[in-house]
Amino acid sequence: MTTTPHTVTLTDDATGRSWKLPVMEGSTGPNVIDIRKLYGETGFFTHDPGFTSTSSCESKITFIDGDKGILLHRGYPIAELAEKSDFLEVAYLLQFGELPDPVQKKEWIKNITYHTMVHEQLSTFFNGFRRDAHPMAIMCGVVGALSAFYHDSTDIHDENQREIACHRLIAKMPTLAAMAFKFALGQPFVYPQNSLSYAENFLYMAFSVPAEPYRINPVLARAMDKIFILHADHEQNASTSTVRLASSSGANPFACIAAGITSLWGPAHGGANEAVLKMLMEIGSKDRIPEIVRRAKDKNDSFRLMGFGHRVYKNYDPRAKVMQQTCREVLAELGIKNDPLLETAMELERVALQDDYFIEKKLYPNVDFYSGIILRAMGFPMSMFTVLFALARTAGWVAHWQEQFREKEQKIGRPRQLYTGAVERSFVPLDQRK
Ligand code: CMC
Repeated sequence: MTTTPHTVTLTDDATGRSWKLPVMEGSTGPNVIDIRKLYGETGFFTHDPGFTSTSSCESKITFIDGDKGILLHRGYPIAELAEKSDFLEVAYLLQFGELPDPVQKKEWIKNITYHTMVHEQLSTFFNGFRRDAHPMAIMCGVVGALSAFYHDSTDIHDENQREIACHRLIAKMPTLAAMAFKFALGQPFVYPQNSLSYAENFLYMAFSVPAEPYRINPVLARAMDKIFILHADHEQNASTSTVRLASSSGANPFACIAAGITSLWGPAHGGANEAVLKMLMEIGSKDRIPEIVRRAKDKNDSFRLMGFGHRVYKNYDPRAKVMQQTCREVLAELGIKNDPLLETAMELERVALQDDYFIEKKLYPNVDFYSGIILRAMGFPMSMFTVLFALARTAGWVAHWQEQFREKEQKIGRPRQLYTGAVERSFVPLDQRK
């Protein structure tokens, strides 16, 4: 980020005083007004609930042009990464800024696979949960609990420990996610197999049982890997910002990622993939689509079309395009010819994209619109969808977590507020209160 000679003048119309604010420019995307000294110099704060106009940090990891529907990781378009790369390579790219050469890739895979197992005692945590616990509730608990097991990677001031924490988090998320799945099914946990690829290993831990040999379907493994790539990072979304904010206090990495998982769980964020499928099932048949679209447009109805709209994208989410294609590949591989859910989804998309409300508000399908259909066809229950999102997003979370430590300015995140409550008043004793 560079400060330009360009400034913006802020004038207080009440007093006529004015201040020049520096403008900073990134490598691409909108410039930002540097307001770090605003309060000290003017006595004003800015007010921006939801951070709709606020850059919270400087980052080199991911770029989104929401108007054009562009998503780049370290400069590489998401569709190209999904087609030509693999998830662990993307995780490396996010972390280190460049694609690995063959030696670096081998070393990176070795470092990750070395940590795929979890401490045996951690498995006893699962028994503390009800069998019908939501797997995201389990993930919030067990990922935070990693802090209690891996003391040699919680010193955030030690670069080596930070690196090992990243390896551990990327490596253990599939194991923990598969354990959460197995726990709900009442099946035994399956240990990781380090000879398998990242996605293959996850499918193996999720779907194999000790009683039978398990054959990995390469088409499904590739689709799983693509889904992981599509969810790996998305710049300063709610969960990534949560990880950054939690970490700014000096909290340990496992606790920070657990915080990210809690934020991701909400239906406005990662929980939308589960909500989309529930919505499609509720719609049931194409003839109910007009009614559902009417409800989504009704100001007096809180219902929204799940999997539609995005804070940043005002165009087609480029991840949704790849997801739609992957959906077709998976359904074809599984011999599912006419999936009623896919048909409902495609018709809903068609109707919404022709509707003035969605056109005016620039509401397009997002990454969550098609992912649930694929995951369901692969055999995952709805409750696991957001867990898979969390598994993949861990690559982005740890990259942002690491980037934060490389910033010159290490500051605890501490937003201010516009206070609208009671002004100072005297305490009223209980017997005098009416
Ligand atoms: N259906 C109907 N109307 C919508 C929708 C929708 N899905 N999304 C936004 N709108 C309307 C909204 O009512 C508002 O209208 P008005 O200006 O008349 O008040 C306008 O569009 C702008 O919406 P907003 O809530 O101010 O926009 P936002 O940027 O704060 O919210 C969003 C973004 C993703 C939370 C929202 O579009 C939404 O709730 N979508 C459904 C949930 C969803 O699919 N979430 C997944 C997001 S992508 C993956 C991820 O980030 O994890």
